[in-house]
Amino acid sequence: MIEIKNLTKVYKTKKGEVKGVDNVSLTVKEGEIFGIVGYSGAGKSSLLRCINLLERPTSGSITVDGTDLTSLKGEQLRSSRLKIGMIFQHFYLISQKTVYENISFSLKAANYPKDQVKQRVEELLKMVGLSDKRDVYPSQLSGGQKQRVGIARALANNPKVLLCDEATSALDPTTTKSILNLLKKINKELNITIVLITHEMDVVKEICSRMAIMQDGKVIEDGSVYDIFANPQAALTKEFIESVVTLEIPEVILNGCEGPIVKVTFRGKVAGEGVISDTLQQFNLKGNFLHGSIEYIQELPLGIFIMELKGQKQEIEKALQYIENRAAQVEVLRNGL
Ligand SMILES: Nc1ncnc2c1ncn2[C@@H]1O[C@H](COP(=O)(O)OP(=O)(O)OP(=O)(O)O)[C@@H](O)[C@H]1O
Ligand SMILES: [Mg+2]
Repeated sequence: MIEIKNLTKVYKTKKGEVKGVDNVSLTVKEGEIFGIVGYSGAGKSSLLRCINLLERPTSGSITVDGTDLTSLKGEQLRSSRLKIGMIFQHFYLISQKTVYENISFSLKAANYPKDQVKQRVEELLKMVGLSDKRDVYPSQLSGGQKQRVGIARALANNPKVLLCDEATSALDPTTTKSILNLLKKINKELNITIVLITHEMDVVKEICSRMAIMQDGKVIEDGSVYDIFANPQAALTKEFIESVVTLEIPEVILNGCEGPIVKVTFRGKVAGEGVISDTLQQFNLKGNFLHGSIEYIQELPLGIFIMELKGQKQEIEKALQYIENRAAQVEVLRNGL
């Protein structure tokens, strides 16, 4: 659906050139929710703004729904852009206009048939759950309600893609959840492809199927959210995951361990099965659990357990092999075999 090829965005400033995006290539598939994560200044917004050509790339190409946007200008570009809606952290609603007018404004700007505007706005308000706020001004709305107006406005012209720039970063956790649920509903019911940028890994874990991690303008890792959580490669990716899955063990506890300390990661259904207890029994080992969690990533369990193993060295080796053969990943963290 979205094909980004060798995209670079260089900003010319008084102090010289700044690379906002550095040779990024990514594919976003039709119907998915794709997350882009990175710290402040990583280039997330620059990349997102290039997708709808709010910012013209310095080099590289952007193809959305089969059209190479970088080759278009003027009217052609304007009409292709209608396929792409966008929402922002700070909503950018027009304060002198009512909720109704904020939404109808973008329909009028796109020459929507005049006699259908009212019906369309009401339909959109219903979808975002704001029918009762039709005639109020933005100042009378909560943050979550403002973002709902932003979403209704972004969807007005039936886009195929919705770009979200930190859409929940200004909201509290409960409101964030309700907006994420609304985005999920839009994705499913309207089959709109969503690209979402955030610095919160929680958001990605909650609704994205695939993701990319950005650092210094580059994509340093990308893939399915589940795979990245199960087996992160880059140090920064690990850091982001640790912000939602904490597996810290106090140093005094670690120092008190004699046997090897292993981390076992179970994927999928097996996370709930008794593989560890079976193994301990079979190889006559004792397991001292130091940490354990089962994360649910879009309803698919990912089990992570850290334990000290006590028993005969040879049996421990066999046991680790046995666990590994059962869909798990085993990593010796300390006191090697
Ligand atoms: N209009 C601009 N002019 C000059 N430099 C810019 C401009 N926009 C962004 N940059 C620079 O490009 C880099 C990437 O910025 P960008 O806003 O894309 O990061 P970000 O990941 O969205 O950060 P944040 O999480 O803070 O929103 C930064 O070094 C930034 O200073
Ligand atoms: Mg940004």
